[in-house]
Amino acid sequence: MNNFTFQCATKIIFGRDTEHQVGAEVKRYADKVLLHYGGGSIKKSGLYDRVVASLKESGVEIVELGGVQPNPRVSLVRRGIELCREQNIPFILAVGGGSVIDSAKAISVGILYDGDVWDFYSGKAEVERCLPVGAVLTIPAAGSEASIGSVITNEDGWYKKSVDNDLLRPVFAIMNPELTFTLPPYQTACGAADIMAHIMERYFTNTPDVDFTDRLCEATLKTIIENVPIAIENPEDYAARAQIMWASTVAHNGLLGTGREEDWASHQIEHELSALYDVAHGAGLAVVFPAWMKYVYRRNVPRFVQFAVRVWNVEQDFHNPERTALKGIEKTKEFFASIGLPVTLEQLGIKDDRLEEMADRCTKGNTVTKGFFVKLDKDDIVEIYKLARE
Ligand code: NZQ
Ligand code: ZN
Repeated sequence: MNNFTFQCATKIIFGRDTEHQVGAEVKRYADKVLLHYGGGSIKKSGLYDRVVASLKESGVEIVELGGVQPNPRVSLVRRGIELCREQNIPFILAVGGGSVIDSAKAISVGILYDGDVWDFYSGKAEVERCLPVGAVLTIPAAGSEASIGSVITNEDGWYKKSVDNDLLRPVFAIMNPELTFTLPPYQTACGAADIMAHIMERYFTNTPDVDFTDRLCEATLKTIIENVPIAIENPEDYAARAQIMWASTVAHNGLLGTGREEDWASHQIEHELSALYDVAHGAGLAVVFPAWMKYVYRRNVPRFVQFAVRVWNVEQDFHNPERTALKGIEKTKEFFASIGLPVTLEQLGIKDDRLEEMADRCTKGNTVTKGFFVKLDKDDIVEIYKLARE
């Protein structure tokens, strides 16, 4: 096991009716807030009204900025920064999913910076300070409510880039599983693929002696595999929704990666798909991850055998470990398909052939490699995109 430092500073407030606590939580930090949200699901569900009532009750002044799109855009982030500067706003409250929270994080960083906020995403600047962000989560998926990341899309060239920094963890995350009852089956499924990907990016490692975190990863994966079909069948099953929601945060708050080298190639390979084709991140991962697995499994067959046996209950073929490993990969793909996700590029709606271009963008013109389980160059990534066509 590797040395590590782990501090997840986000206060988690979990359970039924917890959104009514949002005013009191914000009030600990500020009297005025930017209320940031997406395309309207929170108005339709009535959550918006409850959040506004709670803020008002606590005497918090509200300035609003809605309209965050999935794959959140830097242009709206810039508007948020201007608004916060003009109105002297010291706190950003994100009500929504990963896109809203990531956009809020970007605003919180950009406000205290003299240059353009994209500098953080292009690697020109490093995060040294930011305003506090709080979140009321409406979809378990990205894990942004307690993660160190923010992912933003720049419409100028359609680049999707991330920044990671411990300062970007929200100060609190309010998580009421009932808020996820209104999620359409496809969004629930996209969330599941993203959650599983966050675990698998950590699980497939070459670091030895990590059985404790292996077991945590396997338990978290099994929780998703068991509960997502239940939630799709019955969207108002509180027990299933609650387990998915908590598992989703644990999948990406850093705990499962402690003491081990993580991979993250599949995420970066996927980001090129959502950048150019604006597909849902989770759907892109359902296509990319099994292709990545097929391309790299020979690097560490015993680890893929362990995954197949422990996560998917595949019967171990002691004479042919590769066959067991491949069955685990097949099971992963079958599961994604069974919950209504695309598993090929064509099913994702991508028919044209920009595979070379995407691999080139991903590796900055073949000047950097991606991932750690196997270090992938441009040609490797083209091969993975090709496998994703099957
Ligand atoms: O915009 P509204 O109307 O709210 O609708 C949203 C949106 O269309 C809808 N939705 C959310 N909660 C709902 C709901 N509809 C009905 N009922 C509800 N309760 O769902 C759609 C998707 O929302 P979005 O926020 O985009 O989903 P998600 O949480 O999957 O976030 C995806 C983004 O997060 C990034 C992804 O790249 C992508 O841009 N990621 C962020 C990470 C991080 N910050 O740590 C890590 C991840 O790997 C990921 O890359
Ligand atoms: Zn993800």
